Amino acid sequence: MQEFNFPNWVNRIFYVGLAAAVVFGGYFANMLFFAIHPDGVNVGHKPRQPVPFSHQLHAGVLKMDCRYCHNTVEVAGHAAIPPTATCGNCHGGNRVVPGRTLAVVFPESPLLEPVRTSLEVANEKKGSAPDSVDWIKVHDMPDFVYFNHSAHINRGVSCVSCHGRVDQMLEVSQVKSLSMKFCLDCHRNPTPHLRDPSLVTDLEFKVSKEHPQVVDGQRFETQEEYGAYWKKKLGIDPNVSCSTCHR
Ligand code: HEC
Ligand code: HEC
Ligand code: HEC
Ligand code: HEC
Ligand code: HEC
Repeated sequence: MQEFNFPNWVNRIFYVGLAAAVVFGGYFANMLFFAIHPDGVNVGHKPRQPVPFSHQLHAGVLKMDCRYCHNTVEVAGHAAIPPTATCGNCHGGNRVVPGRTLAVVFPESPLLEPVRTSLEVANEKKGSAPDSVDWIKVHDMPDFVYFNHSAHINRGVSCVSCHGRVDQMLEVSQVKSLSMKFCLDCHRNPTPHLRDPSLVTDLEFKVSKEHPQVVDGQRFETQEEYGAYWKKKLGIDPNVSCSTCHR
């Protein structure tokens, strides 16, 4: 009986398979790690936006307050993304909003073409809903979680605690996990994050010997004492139930 011999190249399949297992095994282990690790949820998510809008320039260099554009954070659950009319205050140019321009910055910039198109659309449908550039969402909570911006802003929790140094970002990316653990860590111990609610949009804010804070005639040199003071003053209750966030 003739013996069947596998041709020599079959040996190579084994090694190719082994290499693939190593490469893709690492890949899947990585995916799994990021999928289940509480600090890895969506961190770094940074979609390409239709207009390369820079927070570093507008909020950092030009020192525009967050609320100039996100003007509902204090009063609503949602932090509104600005309509194009807000950009038009500076970038509209006479070509687009005759007689209504406050300043003309880069009226011909090709980067701002989607802004001008959107302003034209808004002008055509005067009076109806304001038009906006098709910005892509960066942060997105699952629908079964209830979140509310004003509840935090009015309680002295700064944007920086959840969004990081947006004023230094060319493109916004998610820097905190927004996992349940992330929310609960602060709810159980908010003191390190609390401050005067009127200062929540100052992302550079800190309390130290060099930067003391004076409230109601009292001087504070550490965040621990300063935060504890605001916790008491605002009557913040660290006891949360599931229904605070799942209702
Ligand atoms: C001149 C207007 C303007 C100012 C001022 C501004 N923003 Fe924005 N912001 C935008 C626009 C437009 C977007 C949507 C495009 C993007 O994500 O970059 C945005 C997006 C964001 C997002 C991501 C939203 C998402 O999709 O999840 C965060 C977070 C944010 N801004 C925080 C801030 C903070 C904090 C400040 C103050 C330090 C600030 N912004 C100041 C216009 C502004
Ligand atoms: C208060 C005025 C003001 C508002 C409002 C404003 N910007 Fe600007 N923007 C500026 C200034 C000033 C510069 C230019 C800074 C420089 O480089 O000298 C600029 C630059 C830019 C640039 C760079 C353009 C280029 O060709 O380099 C883009 C893109 C831009 N802004 C987008 C936006 C968008 C989108 C909005 C609305 C969400 C907006 N801006 C709102 C003042 C403003
Ligand atoms: C306690 C954490 C926290 C603080 C403080 C906070 N944010 Fe947010 N922000 C979030 C979360 C969570 C989302 C995603 C909400 C969603 O998907 O429903 C979000 C989303 C946003 C968005 C996208 C629009 C929206 O509402 O989904 C903008 C813009 C924004 N934040 C701006 C700000 C600004 C400006 C401040 C400070 C004035 C701020 N945030 C403070 C947690 C926070
Ligand atoms: C950096 C601190 C911090 C983080 C992070 C944080 N919170 Fe809060 N949250 C607070 C404080 C402080 C309050 C006010 C509590 C009070 O008034 O007693 C609050 C209040 C709330 C409220 C309103 C409660 C009420 O009774 O009206 C909701 C809802 C909420 N948080 C959900 C969330 C969710 C969901 C997350 C995670 C995405 C989150 N929070 C992350 C500090 C934080
Ligand atoms: C401060 C807000 C907050 C409180 C309080 C809270 N949760 Fe959550 N919970 C969240 C957030 C945010 C997520 C979404 C996490 C994500 O997207 O990974 C979540 C997700 C979940 C999930 C889905 C599984 C998962 O981990 O993604 C379950 C189940 C859950 N929570 C149960 C509870 C129970 C039970 C309690 C009370 C003991 C509770 N939660 C209290 C914020 C909260």
